[in-house]
Amino acid sequence: MTFSTPGSCQDRIGPIILGLETSCDETAAAIVDGRQTVLASVLASQHDVHGPYGGVVPELAARRHTETIEAIVQEAMRRANLTWSDLHAVAVTRGPGLAGALLVGVSYGKAIAYAAGLRLIAVHHLEGHLASAWLEDKAFPTPCVMLVVSGGHTHLYLAHEEGTYELLGRTLDDAAGEAFDKGAQMLGLGFPGGPALDRLAREGTPEAVRFPRPYLKRGGLDFSFSGLKTALLYYLRDCDQSHRKPALAADIAASYQEAIVDVLLEKAFRAVRRSHVKALGIVGGVSANSRLRAAATARARATGVRLVMPSPVHCTDNAAMIAAAACRRYVSGQADGWDLEASASWDLPSASDVDPAQAVVLRASTT
Ligand code: KG4
Ligand code: ZN
Repeated sequence: MTFSTPGSCQDRIGPIILGLETSCDETAAAIVDGRQTVLASVLASQHDVHGPYGGVVPELAARRHTETIEAIVQEAMRRANLTWSDLHAVAVTRGPGLAGALLVGVSYGKAIAYAAGLRLIAVHHLEGHLASAWLEDKAFPTPCVMLVVSGGHTHLYLAHEEGTYELLGRTLDDAAGEAFDKGAQMLGLGFPGGPALDRLAREGTPEAVRFPRPYLKRGGLDFSFSGLKTALLYYLRDCDQSHRKPALAADIAASYQEAIVDVLLEKAFRAVRRSHVKALGIVGGVSANSRLRAAATARARATGVRLVMPSPVHCTDNAAMIAAAACRRYVSGQADGWDLEASASWDLPSASDVDPAQAVVLRASTT
């Protein structure tokens, strides 16, 4: 079990929200105040549980969440030096994610909110990732384009304001994180693959192997990564069959990573241009990737775009982003009922889903 605390603050401004995140393989609790200051953030990773299987095993994830969540919450409360009466709400990831894993967080969140007389707020996991941009840069402007790149999602949004998102494009097959994980698996780098591939790629040459840039020539803002995965598979197979000396594993990793990064950034900056905005947020686990961060920073500087990427600890799953997302909803008076249920395939409603003539400000709702 590993614990991390990004920061704490003396003068806490309400509402003070306890966030819980158990949608996949991290058990996380965090406490964030109304100024989006992280008072405590505690995280237990399950890599030791799933590593031997090469991927997340849903039943084992749920069981480990059950065993760990109480200690994680207690540790967060201890680090923030708070009692239950100091809190205003409990925010919990309702979905999407693994059903059994989500159920643990939702059930636990309901129980403590009810017992402590606190408001319960359900948060969409992507809304949490999106909120992590403002956790990093409280003055980050809207409208802006947001790229969410994680293990399950590769989505481009136009954020009209924080909490109101219009879907611009999305992956038609695999997510960018999946492309990293599967690529790492093919290269024998184990689990979790993304960070391992990132580390190996630092020693390689990105131009060594020319992998395809899927969907780049098409004018749209959607992504596709399954063809790139297949290209790596064929490249490795052909190396074996022809006994041709393969490029070093580090070169292959760097070249494969470069193809993913190229596509992500080309589309993200294309969305910025088309939306006539000057700000771009990149969030989600893949935004911890060192090459993506460096290339995005250089490109933003060259084009005069204001860029925000959360600090790496807030890129991958964490509970501070869940509490941060709930903060706005608390202030606008929203609350969820005790009949709240986890939703493994909960869609984040997009502002484009509604009739613009009605000028509805759409927020992720639990209905
Ligand atoms: O946001 P996240 O923690 O969980 C989901 O919501 O899916 O994202 C996890 C994904 C995994 O696919 C993981 O391999 C990838 O983010 N990831 C990375 C890096 N760190 C995490 N991919 C590339 N480079 C990294 N440094
Ligand atoms: Zn996530």
